[in-house]
Amino acid sequence: MIKTNGEIIEHQCIAKHIFLLSLRYPESNLIVEPGQFVQLSCPGKHTTLLKRPFSVFDASPNIVSIVYKVVGKGTTNLSEKRVGDSLEMILPCGNPFSIPQEGGLNVLIGGGLGIAPLHFLTKYYPKPPFEFWYGTSYEEEWIPANLLQRSGIDLHIHADFSTSNHHSLQFPENLLQKYQKESTTSPTKIYCCGPTKLMQNVTKHCMEKNIPIEVSLESRMACGFGICLGCSFLTKDGMKTVCKDGPTFDGSNVIWESLT
Ligand SMILES: Cc1cc2nc3c(=O)[nH]c(=O)nc-3n(C[C@H](O)[C@H](O)[C@H](O)COP(=O)(O)OP(=O)(O)OC[C@H]3O[C@@H](n4cnc5c(N)ncnc54)[C@H](O)[C@@H]3O)c2cc1C
Ligand code: FES
Repeated sequence: MIKTNGEIIEHQCIAKHIFLLSLRYPESNLIVEPGQFVQLSCPGKHTTLLKRPFSVFDASPNIVSIVYKVVGKGTTNLSEKRVGDSLEMILPCGNPFSIPQEGGLNVLIGGGLGIAPLHFLTKYYPKPPFEFWYGTSYEEEWIPANLLQRSGIDLHIHADFSTSNHHSLQFPENLLQKYQKESTTSPTKIYCCGPTKLMQNVTKHCMEKNIPIEVSLESRMACGFGICLGCSFLTKDGMKTVCKDGPTFDGSNVIWESLT
């Protein structure tokens, strides 16, 4: 993990409040793996002291990409940055997903921006077959499918838009139900990222069916290094921090009630 400066080489709005941001940094020997995250400074008109964590959406030597949604001060500042601007960042942070089994079927279930680390998993490991279930409940936040679709990926899309275009509270149940009804395969492993309720429901399904499940958790973070304990929660092995012990965890080990 290093602190470095990244130069913005790509910054485009891909949905109403959602941006794809790519930064190039000088260090060429860094290994950044799927499930890890980057901590990005977000300077601008709003004061933000702390760096903000974002899952790696894609990475290649010297380049890291994220997909982020504008939700507050830091991400508003970020959205105003231009190609050529420089941002301080720390990467790679946290632990990656375990390696998907080649030859087995790896199912990915991603809600909203939870697709970011799952997308990188499919890029980083091009060989294992992936069945990718992507869903969102906000029409305006729809991630263009061409960003996710590639050969070797069986992509299923669940657009859970209510007529009033308000967030569907049933979305986590609906996405899982769609997968349960329509998938005809037996997965070797399921990887899930998105709203906590979605990850909790998918974990329950996996435990019932005896399928290994890995999740990528989110939490509000301060230090990002396991020092302040601000992102700690309960697991069957005791307290863990999202930033240092995760963000990837065996879902069956998480005490989900401690995250809400
Ligand atoms: C490991 C990890 C990976 C993440 N990956 C992504 C990603 O790929 N794309 C993305 O858009 N976001 C991601 N996030 C969330 C992102 O870090 C926050 O949206 C960001 O820090 C908000 O900063 P802000 O200054 O704009 O918002 P603030 O001004 O700090 O807060 C604005 C609002 O957003 C809420 N909020 C802030 N941070 C979080 C959070 N971590 N979880 C839930 N609600 C929050 C606040 O409660 C508040 O209501 C990730 C978070 C973690 C911990
Ligand atoms: S953010 Fe400080 S311990 Fe995780």
